[in-house]
Amino acid sequence: MTAAADRFAKIRTATNAHRARHGCNAYPYDNGPLLAALAAAAGARRILELGTALGYTALSFASGAQDATVDTVERDPEHVQLARDNIAAAVMDHRITVHEGDFGTVMLTFDPGYDVAFFDGGTPVPALHKKLRELLRTGGLLITANLNHGGSAEAVRKALFDGKSWRSALVDEEGETAISVKI
Ligand SMILES: C[S@@+](CC[C@H](N)C(=O)[O-])C[C@H]1O[C@@H](n2cnc3c(N)ncnc32)[C@H](O)[C@@H]1O
Repeated sequence: MTAAADRFAKIRTATNAHRARHGCNAYPYDNGPLLAALAAAAGARRILELGTALGYTALSFASGAQDATVDTVERDPEHVQLARDNIAAAVMDHRITVHEGDFGTVMLTFDPGYDVAFFDGGTPVPALHKKLRELLRTGGLLITANLNHGGSAEAVRKALFDGKSWRSALVDEEGETAISVKI
């Protein structure tokens, strides 16, 4: 993807540079414009993200759905600070809130009714997906990254594609990311 096509490409590049220095797992999702388009298509007003890193995908969502607020969760204090700085510099801090803490704990504080939820917090885990489903409205869109990580990701993939609870499709040939509508 060319930098011209991605408004937040510099933050994606900075995330890769940060990871090399920090030795962390801040691998930025590789297609922010896709997330922006999905949020716009969903007419999202409330978006939930697990895995902020430096804010690349939260900013992508907010730029796509211009009436939306974004709640994004991150436990690494350095990532939280860098994300807040990037979000403020993009003048999106009135619409994006970075919640510091562990996914499982912070999610308990959120009210249900999200239009879009994004899991980008490493290997997907069934318990977190169960909670994401509770927080998503019926007809809402769940985007799951890292489904090709194996381990617990396999159980999540099975649930997303069982045909009973979700209408799901993979968006890439590697089977890394699924989009799923809650039915
Ligand atoms: C793959 S990166 C997120 C990338 C980000 N969405 C982007 O596009 O730049 C995953 C992030 O999730 C955070 N994380 C992983 N497990 C977590 C947990 N259980 N609770 C909170 N944050 C977690 C990591 O610190 C890391 O910053």
